[in-house]
Amino acid sequence: MKTVRIIAWVLVVLLAGTVTYAWLNQGKQGIQQLAGAGVGGPFTLSRTDGTPFTEKDLAGKPYAMFFGFTNCPEVCPTTLYEASGWLEQLGDDADKIGIYFVTVDPERDTPELIANYVSSFDKRIVGLTGTPEQIEAIKKEYRVFSQKVDLEDGDYTIDHTASIYLMRGDGSFAGTIAWGEDGEIALKKIRNLISKG
Ligand code: NI
Repeated sequence: MKTVRIIAWVLVVLLAGTVTYAWLNQGKQGIQQLAGAGVGGPFTLSRTDGTPFTEKDLAGKPYAMFFGFTNCPEVCPTTLYEASGWLEQLGDDADKIGIYFVTVDPERDTPELIANYVSSFDKRIVGLTGTPEQIEAIKKEYRVFSQKVDLEDGDYTIDHTASIYLMRGDGSFAGTIAWGEDGEIALKKIRNLISKG
């Protein structure tokens, strides 16, 4: 009788575990699908010359979008440097993709600073800014994280999403290039994006 009861309890625990596992897994997949489907959307920003720039200006051409700030010590300069290399390697195909750098530090990154910054990489990389509210709005659309972190000397740095967002010509999300991703794989992803439009 005792053994039967123990076996029954073991079965109950196993069943509960299986159901919980299946439920958790389903939830995870659901979140991933949601994240992919939800990235991108309408926004209003400004070019560094002050002219407005919205999602309509992107229409029809695939693009890579990166979010950062000009004072970034490593991730942003490395990423923009690598992006410049991809544009060079693409040759004539480089004009089939747009590359955008959006500041997450609109208070400190003046249009002049951004223009200066991006021009020290490849001239085809377009710098974008906006009001703090506009930047918050596009961060939400692209599921971008960024947060100011105070430094001891009174200055601040910004932790931010380091992935490059790859978007199709219709504005839908195609994937990301992760920080530190192999350069050849990154270039392949971009060629793939260009060939599928
Ligand atoms: Ni950065």
